[in-house]
Amino acid sequence: MSSPAPKAWSQRFESALHPAIADFNASITFDIELLEYDLNGSVAHAKMLAQTSIISISEAEQLVAGLEQIRQEHRQGHFNPTVDDEDVHFAVEHRLIEIVGDVGKKLHTARSRNDQVGTDIRLYLRHKVDAIRTQLRAFQQALVDQAERHIDTIIPGYTHLQRAQPLSLAHHLLAYVEMAQRDWERLGDLRHRINLSPLGCGALAGTPFPINRAYSAELLGFEGIYRNSLDGVSDRDFAIEFTAAASLIVVHLSRLAEEIILWASAEFSFVKLTDTCSTGSSIMPQKKNPDVPELVRGKTGRVFGHLQSLLVMMKGLPMAYNKDLQEDKEPLFDTVKTVQSCLEAMTILLQEGLEFQAERLASTVTTDFSNATDVADYLAAKDVPFREAYNLVGKVVRHCLANNQLLKDLSLEEWQELHPAFEDDIYAAIAPRQVVAARKSYGGTSFEQVRLALSEARQRLLEV
Ligand code: ARG
Repeated sequence: MSSPAPKAWSQRFESALHPAIADFNASITFDIELLEYDLNGSVAHAKMLAQTSIISISEAEQLVAGLEQIRQEHRQGHFNPTVDDEDVHFAVEHRLIEIVGDVGKKLHTARSRNDQVGTDIRLYLRHKVDAIRTQLRAFQQALVDQAERHIDTIIPGYTHLQRAQPLSLAHHLLAYVEMAQRDWERLGDLRHRINLSPLGCGALAGTPFPINRAYSAELLGFEGIYRNSLDGVSDRDFAIEFTAAASLIVVHLSRLAEEIILWASAEFSFVKLTDTCSTGSSIMPQKKNPDVPELVRGKTGRVFGHLQSLLVMMKGLPMAYNKDLQEDKEPLFDTVKTVQSCLEAMTILLQEGLEFQAERLASTVTTDFSNATDVADYLAAKDVPFREAYNLVGKVVRHCLANNQLLKDLSLEEWQELHPAFEDDIYAAIAPRQVVAARKSYGGTSFEQVRLALSEARQRLLEV
């Protein structure tokens, strides 16, 4: 680019900005991210100005052509504004005037950077929300594909990280499909509140020009327009909502990450990490580290931090625009980048990074007491009141532990001494596969329910 841009507002000032203050004030180093959206917003604004005869059609055409030229320059890497441009909006205006001459000075008629920047971040975020929703679908698909392969794989189920009851591994994985479904729906819901046009709110009070806000909103694909100009330029609720929804996405990813880290340890040995998704140690040659899930778990903090930043940025702001709002961008951009990279990495990890150790998993549940509830259920089904049955089984477990035995090791005589209702079928009832198969209640882990849940999940994934 040629000459340093004189500040658009510099005529009112007697001296130039202190260079350090110019740097401090500028947002161009990060808001260049908004360039394409800023161009889209300006194209729509120019068309609206012509549609309402505020400028001529030929002037609008020149503006649009100039804006499109900037888009090409940017895509080819030739549009490189500096801090002299202050922000992306001034950078575009400056370059536009260089390209199209004086007519370029008409673009900012009936507009302020305040409604302009609000428009840009909404267009940006709407686009990113759509991309993240697509990624959530891919993540769910990867979970469903793994679940499909592991309907019959048994995994210990835990509460308090203590062995509780055995599960179908597919059931476990499908729990994450549900979490991601809520994330997908939440983003779809908040998208409506992102998708409102502040364009035409002006600096804060509207404009005396006969603009057509509905027209520019429609050109930009907005679902509606802000009803109040003050609210339009100062609302960042949608950014906070998005960051809150993003926080939940990373919470869900981090929970799965934590499980994978545990599962990959020698202590659990439930899963082996493939070479494409794990890394080595610089000193311990035997190591294979779960860096991917660890990074996912580690990155959650910055997303929560961004939510906090945005909340604090907003809480004391008087009406309407305040420069504090320039601080919305970096948290938002980093949240988007972090969520997108975590979703991508976890999807790849699910697709090709994990080898579940089915035999090891199956053998774990044959050597514990995770079938104890089933003994109580067995008696309860034979009309022994559940609490009585529960107490009796508690005693049996204690007896087994003292004698280094498992429930399946008790002889039929021993069972019958404990309660006459026990019969030979007790052994089948407490076999791990039967323990899983028995939980046929809706949403439970029985193989039958899991197949049903899988087909419902697959159906839901078709929704866009
Ligand atoms: N760079 C500014 C921002 O990101 C653009 C809006 C500036 N508006 C103003 N009145 N100074 O918020």
